[in-house]
Amino acid sequence: MDFYFVFDRLRDGMTETLPALSCRPQPRAMRACECAGLSFHEIACRIEAEGLALDEVLTRTGCGRTCTACVPDLRAFLANRSARSER
Ligand code: FES
Repeated sequence: MDFYFVFDRLRDGMTETLPALSCRPQPRAMRACECAGLSFHEIACRIEAEGLALDEVLTRTGCGRTCTACVPDLRAFLANRSARSER
């Protein structure tokens, strides 16, 4: 089973089962891969400038290859960026 699928299901399950309390701290999205020392903006620029697929950029940079904590937020960042550019 895909790790990212399991991670997303766990996160979604926690969000659905916990009550929406106003005092509950909201998790902040990551804005960089801490392991590789690359911001998501830099990764997006490489994808656009070099015309590469995300997996190719991740392989070349090492982003998302160590602890993988950044991958869900990176995918969300790129999806939001793509949606904004289509408007
Ligand atoms: S924060 Fe990106 S691999 Fe660890």
